[in-house]
Amino acid sequence: MNTDVKDRAPRNRTLTLDADERERLSKKLLRPPLQVNMSLLTDQIICGNSINLMSELPARLVDLLILDCPYNLTKTFGFENFREKSSQEYERWFESWFVKVLPALKTTSSLYVCGDWKCSAAIYNVLDRHVIIRNRITWEREKGRGANANWKNASEDVWFATFSDEYYFNVEAVKLKRRVLAPYRENGKPKDWDASVDGSFRLTHPSNLWTDLTVPFWSMPENTDHPTQKPEKLFAKMILASSREDDLVFDPFLGSGTSAAVARKLKRRFLAVEQDETYACLAVKRVELAERDPAIQGYSEGVFWERNTLSLQMRQSRSPSVCQSDFFESSVSSATKIGS
Ligand SMILES: C[S@@+](CC[C@H](N)C(=O)[O-])C[C@H]1O[C@@H](n2cnc3c(N)ncnc32)[C@H](O)[C@@H]1O
Repeated sequence: MNTDVKDRAPRNRTLTLDADERERLSKKLLRPPLQVNMSLLTDQIICGNSINLMSELPARLVDLLILDCPYNLTKTFGFENFREKSSQEYERWFESWFVKVLPALKTTSSLYVCGDWKCSAAIYNVLDRHVIIRNRITWEREKGRGANANWKNASEDVWFATFSDEYYFNVEAVKLKRRVLAPYRENGKPKDWDASVDGSFRLTHPSNLWTDLTVPFWSMPENTDHPTQKPEKLFAKMILASSREDDLVFDPFLGSGTSAAVARKLKRRFLAVEQDETYACLAVKRVELAERDPAIQGYSEGVFWERNTLSLQMRQSRSPSVCQSDFFESSVSSATKIGS
């Protein structure tokens, strides 16, 4: 995959790699065979085939598993193609490696598995046989390709599951700051909302319908040329709700590095695998950048904000990180990354 500097508009902030960077960053990648030494497996990106590696992982290592494997679509990732299969074949493929990753999970671990309407049922069937499914999150992709003879596909699923009934979930860490349209008072006092010069706001419990996400596009500093890059905000919700600081997040299909960058921003450890070297190098670059700027678009002051509230966040923010990231939220984005 070529992510070398192309002709791009001046405001285009897509992360790229030049030849020197690529050489430097590729030296930071671990490569199989793995030396199974726990200290080597922290904050590392492995460049290789995760399916071959899964049985090499130490037992009971992982606190949080994020799975964003190829969906059941024909799609090119770097030099590799994923070919669409029948739903039954996809289910068999998924299960063949999923069972190998299970021994690496702690008994208290949580899992989030991304999918779309087409592969979600197959994923459900496999999860249901091996772990405890807790919920299905549906998130709205702001954009999607229109279709003439079908409904536009503008949503994706994330299955939330746990290994056992003993698991960590921090709802306070993932509250949403929402504008209150009809502020209700009881005995003259605001009921569960706060007034500010910008209006009335309430912190709400997050539901399993997420409509506050923006798929990365050219003017966002997290954007890369990866065809199915997920928003940092999406993974931030999973990581904040289902892990503690210093916990280990494992992502065997890392892509452009979203989970690793967010783990670093939120002070979690990570281990990740990506088979395409260019994407793996981009991921290392994002982790390095995360150290300098831990801002996550749409998350500040310990709460998640609705879309297109950047100016409000900046006004209400006491921390400079919202400004530092200098991101743009736009309702005129040209987001084109469709499906995994
Ligand atoms: C859906 S994308 C992940 C996108 C990622 N969440 C992000 O935000 O950039 C899946 C990734 O898995 C990689 N991949 C597919 N099969 C793999 C394998 N067996 N081992 C390692 N990586 C693999 C692909 O190259 C692709 O980058």
